[in-house]
Amino acid sequence: MRRIAIFASGRGSNAVNIIKFFSCGDRGAAVALVVCNNPKAEVTERCRSLGVHVEVLSRADINSPDVMCPLLERHEVDLIVLAGFLQMLPPFLTGRFAGNIVNIHPSLLPRFGGKGMYGRHVHEAVVAAGESETGITVHLVNDKYDDGRILFQASVAVAPGDTAADVEHKVHLLEKTHFPRVIAATFCRGESSES
Ligand code: GAR
Repeated sequence: MRRIAIFASGRGSNAVNIIKFFSCGDRGAAVALVVCNNPKAEVTERCRSLGVHVEVLSRADINSPDVMCPLLERHEVDLIVLAGFLQMLPPFLTGRFAGNIVNIHPSLLPRFGGKGMYGRHVHEAVVAAGESETGITVHLVNDKYDDGRILFQASVAVAPGDTAADVEHKVHLLEKTHFPRVIAATFCRGESSES
């Protein structure tokens, strides 16, 4: 059984979806912990109400091995899932969990990735560029922005006249459909990619 820590900063729709997906107990992983760097983020209450332990930590705490290593050890975490987490992970975490940190990015990387490209900003850039499609990328995390090995991509059409909010909605639906399934298929032995 893998033990997942979800790192999130915002609304938490992906965090909630992943928690629910794995809560049945027979998909090879359980969400042990949610780490949030924004005390006002909706994700904190949403995950607590699902019975998951939530730690709200400062930027400095997240950058501190003395804080993070005992925390992750205490919860026996062996897989980190970034679900809308808006802080670069420190090298001691990317090193220690190499190959076991996964991120979702709301575009078809390498298009619309890199520093400053997150959430609504990505969808605004996609609309401004007149793209006819966008999508999601699930990828491993290293110590550069949006740079690790791509595990999965799915695309969706951008219609003429779509606003950034329209695009965001379409991308969220893709995230909901695919992200938990890709985590299970990649990291949890025995899990079918079709479930
Ligand atoms: C998601 O769309 C995720 O792909 C994106 O932030 C959103 C978080 O939504 N992540 C990034 O932009 C990372 N660069 P949520 O809090 O409702 O899951």
